[in-house]
Formats: sequence, C-alpha cells, structure tokens
Amino acid sequence: MYAINSQSNPLHSDVWPSANKFEAEIVMMTANMLGAAQGGGSPGSGQEIVGTVSSGGTESILLAMKTYRDWAHDKKGITAPEMICPNTAHAAFDKASQYFNIKMRRIPVGPDQLADVTATKAAINENTVVIVGSAPPFSHGLIDPIEELSELARSHGIGFHTDACLGGFILPWAEKLGYPVRAFDFRLPGVTSMSADTHKFGFAAKGTSVVLYRGPELRHYQYYTTLEWPGGLYFSLTLAGSRPGGLSAACWVAMVSIGEEGYLESARRILGTADYLKNEISKIPELKLIGDPIFVVAFTSDVLDIYAIGDYMSAHKWGLNSLQLPPALHLCTCLPHTQPGVKEG
Ligand SMILES: Cc1ncc(COP(=O)(O)O)c(C=O)c1O
Repeated sequence: MYAINSQSNPLHSDVWPSANKFEAEIVMMTANMLGAAQGGGSPGSGQEIVGTVSSGGTESILLAMKTYRDWAHDKKGITAPEMICPNTAHAAFDKASQYFNIKMRRIPVGPDQLADVTATKAAINENTVVIVGSAPPFSHGLIDPIEELSELARSHGIGFHTDACLGGFILPWAEKLGYPVRAFDFRLPGVTSMSADTHKFGFAAKGTSVVLYRGPELRHYQYYTTLEWPGGLYFSLTLAGSRPGGLSAACWVAMVSIGEEGYLESARRILGTADYLKNEISKIPELKLIGDPIFVVAFTSDVLDIYAIGDYMSAHKWGLNSLQLPPALHLCTCLPHTQPGVKEG
C-alpha cells in the first residue's frame, strides 16, 4: 500500500481523492472506537466527532493546543492563554506551550500519581483555555480522573483534552474484555478533544496519529489559510504542508486488515501478559508496583537502586524505561512481550 501511494499528497486533496478518503475513514474508525457514536452528536448537529490525521502523538497534541489558543482568542478575546496539565502529561504539552506561547500551569500529581482535581480547580482563571488529562500518561500508566477533570472544564466553559496517544487503541478493547477502565473518551460530555496514536497500538507504520474534536467549529481553529500568496489560495490542515499519503494508506490498510477482532485479540494478549508481569513483580518483596496499571507496568523500590535494576535488565535485553520524580522503571507491555516464553524469561 505504501509503494502504490508513495507519491500521493493529502495537501492536494483534489489531485489525490483516495488520500482524502483513507484519512476520513481513519478518523471515523478512531472516533467510533472512542465513543463518538454514543457521546458525539449526529452528522450536521455541530457536535459530531471530527478530526484529522497527523504525523504522530506530538503533532496531534500541538495541533489541539494551538486550536484552543485560537478558539479562546476568537470566542473569548483571551490574549494571554494558559493551559493546565498534571505534571505527568507528556512533554509534548510543554513543547506546545513554548511553540504557541501558551502559559503552562503544571499541577503536581497526588501520591497516587493521578491528576489532582482540587488543585486543578484552584488553578483555573479567566485565561485558562484548556485542561488536560491522560489515558494513560507515559510515565506510570494510570488513567487520570478524566470524568471529574472534564466536568470541571465543562462547568467553566473551558476545553478539555484527553491524551490517549498511548491508550487510545488499547483501553476500548480492555473495556470490552472486562477490565476496569476509567471513563476517558467522548462518552464524557466535557471531553472536547482527544489524541490517539495509530502508530502505537493501532499497529500502523510510524508517522500517523489522529486528533479528534467535538464539532467541526472547534476543529476549524486548527487549520491554516492564507489568501494573499502569489502561489494561489493556500490552506493546510496540520503543521506540515505536503504530507505522506503513503503513510495514511498504509495506516488505513493496517486498521482494516487488523479490524476489531484483531485489536481485541492483541489487547487480550497484551493485557494478559501485563497481568502476569504485575503478579510476578508483586511477589518480589524489594519491588513496589505503582498503583494498579492496565498495561504500562511501573514499579519502584525503597531498598534497591531502581536504576541499577534497569541497567541489569538492559544487559539482559529487557528495555525498561527509566522514570524520575520519583525514581522508577516501567515496562510498556507490547505484542513482542506476548510471544511464548518471553515474559517468563
Ligand atoms: C501519553 C503519550 N502522549 C503523547 C506521546 C507522544 O507521541 P509521539 O512520540 O508519537 O509524538 C506519547 C509517546 O509515548 C505518550 O505516551
């Protein structure tokens, strides 16, 4: 699919209508997986869940934050915008803050590593344009209290972004498999945008992600247009100009060939392996699991140097991520870990 579409460019959707169709279907499939049918409005209602394909989680987050900045400027006249993020929200939010001149208000998470709703409420002011929560964050893999945070945002007329870059293609299937998954998606009325990465657990080639919005009006603030350029009327949906239509085609074919059954089966294997790992780690008295994660298993130790354990594991070909504040390690359980004999090794 990539080779056939390698020259296609979604920037020129008139020349490459198939690229348009691939991307529209990627967005629709992702939106439906994330509660659009239950929580979004019907087409034309202004509340339907819409979106665009971007190049990755970071770009989806950058786009959403720029969208809130411009939306708040237009609708509320906010000229000194602020965003509120738990300190576990991805570094891409800091990048957005720098790139788009949005003041970052980082809120320390509680001892449970979850976003602190009370402190978030206290940080809201007349310049707040968006509140962020993660499902889950990269660090400890524990889903933030999205329901409470998004209601807080809704009651103040502020945007709310769920960063489901990592969990977007796992949590819906985990829920179907009966795992206790805290509400995080468009079924919550306060959630006004989401990011979900096709190039992570969507198993597409690297270079695609989806950013979704509640309603086309909000999405409109993401777009760039200029009417004065001698090259003609110019508009682009995302940060890039020309984009790799081949990647969108490859993403589309990954999604339709894996299908709901494939994603469900992958989630079953990943979550079963994560359960095994959690259980084995909890049997080691020197190690302490952090919370009760679903598939990103983080642990620390009060008595051992956790980074020395990480080095030892690396030497034995286990690539754990080193975390800080507090020092910890995590394993993001993926399909390769589910192969026979791997988790026991
Ligand atoms: C929760 C979360 N958000 C955002 C990102 C950024 O994604 P990307 O590296 O695709 O830009 C990641 C990456 O791991 C992530 O885990």
